[in-house]
Amino acid sequence: MSPVNLAELIGSGRAAAELWGATINPQFARFLITIGFDRTWVRGEGAYLWDSEGDRYLDLIGGFGMFNVGRNNRNVRAALIEALELDLPGSVQLGATPLPPLLAQELLRRVPGRLERVLFTSSGTESVEAALKLARAATRRERVVSADHGFHGLTLGSLSANGNGEFTDRFGPLLPGFSQVPFGDLDRLEQELRREDVAVFLVEPVQGKGVNLPPDGYLEGAQSLCRRYGTLFCVDEVQTGFGRTGRLFAFEHWGLEPDLVPVAKSLSGGYVPVGALLMSRSVHERVYDSMEHAFSHGSTFAPNELAMAAGLATLRELDDQQLVARAAERGERLLQLTEPLVERYEVVRDVRALGLLWAIEFGEPASRRGSYRLIERLQPGLFAQFVVGPLFREHRVLSQVAGHSLPVVKALPPLTVSDEDLVWFSTALTETVAKAARVPRAAAGFALTAARNR
Ligand SMILES: Cc1ncc(COP(=O)(O)O)c(C=O)c1O
Repeated sequence: MSPVNLAELIGSGRAAAELWGATINPQFARFLITIGFDRTWVRGEGAYLWDSEGDRYLDLIGGFGMFNVGRNNRNVRAALIEALELDLPGSVQLGATPLPPLLAQELLRRVPGRLERVLFTSSGTESVEAALKLARAATRRERVVSADHGFHGLTLGSLSANGNGEFTDRFGPLLPGFSQVPFGDLDRLEQELRREDVAVFLVEPVQGKGVNLPPDGYLEGAQSLCRRYGTLFCVDEVQTGFGRTGRLFAFEHWGLEPDLVPVAKSLSGGYVPVGALLMSRSVHERVYDSMEHAFSHGSTFAPNELAMAAGLATLRELDDQQLVARAAERGERLLQLTEPLVERYEVVRDVRALGLLWAIEFGEPASRRGSYRLIERLQPGLFAQFVVGPLFREHRVLSQVAGHSLPVVKALPPLTVSDEDLVWFSTALTETVAKAARVPRAAAGFALTAARNR
């Protein structure tokens, strides 16, 4: 028995959302209650979550993409237990331990030869911050270009590259030297890069907010422009990495060879905060160019030994369970199950996916457009919430709206989802979309309540 009896503490408390409201963030608690997501979650396994009532839910949020190998993966857990039992030293700070270079080696073995060095961090945004700093130092240029609607994290550097006003408003001034270009527009990118003062172009291979797939030729074209104008090409794989899109890294779909690749989320199987920046030797050598500069960037907790142990086990698990190929195959299957909705319901504009990064987009239908407009006037993107709400309440499927004010529902389940899970979801989705499209009054009622509670 541990000195702190966690089971007893967990079992005896008030509802979790209420406790969060009282101690962490009342507005978050209000939000959960408003959308009806205020369950007390007590257990997770694979692609499932259980609430305190013992009900099982299908998890299509996957911790925003950090549970690619499934929640409480037994093999990652075993590695963590072994690491604890070995009484590893933990960080010595001025000293070297074996696990970090072992994980670095495993990561580098899996990426193109151009990427030869790893800098560990503890989160996605820290990996992006590292990319921004190192790019500036390596190129001796100041400017950073990123894409409209891009998302790279919420600390000030990453936020400055963020192309979404709802995240940046109220937090200015942002860092100088940052600008955005439309995702998919190579002419606009070239206009910026031609000035030869841009240190780095930072882009997600598939944009997470909205699940926007790149137009054909875009990423390859962006890479060539970067090379032509001496700009570093940084592909943010924080959400798309570790098998999510049906390749270990999404950049493989287009044969890209980026100079910088921030990763995080699923690297530790969702157990321990972790992140890394994979980079070319030349970037590294231009920044860490003398012993004096050996400490140019880093943070106290990174690399963390437990994160490294979990990382090694996660990479092994992805290989052993062939989860990357499985993501590709299950992604195809999910598309096959859900694409017919575009034909069947006017309100469904598009269904798209790359591997198990999937989305359905809604739009104003030709008929019954009055109620759709009413809902969207109350709050843009609210129709998508109508789909997410019933999916959860009536079908026990946890999903999310793909970004502020977007009429898009997104899924990024653990890569362990089974065929039955996909059928569970697609059946629930079909029923929910049919109802949402058909019952304007109920929908409008819900919209009004949500709007009032905002
Ligand atoms: C593409 C991308 N980059 C960076 C981040 C930031 O990662 P973190 O939340 O670990 O800071 C995210 C988080 O969702 C992301 O999707």
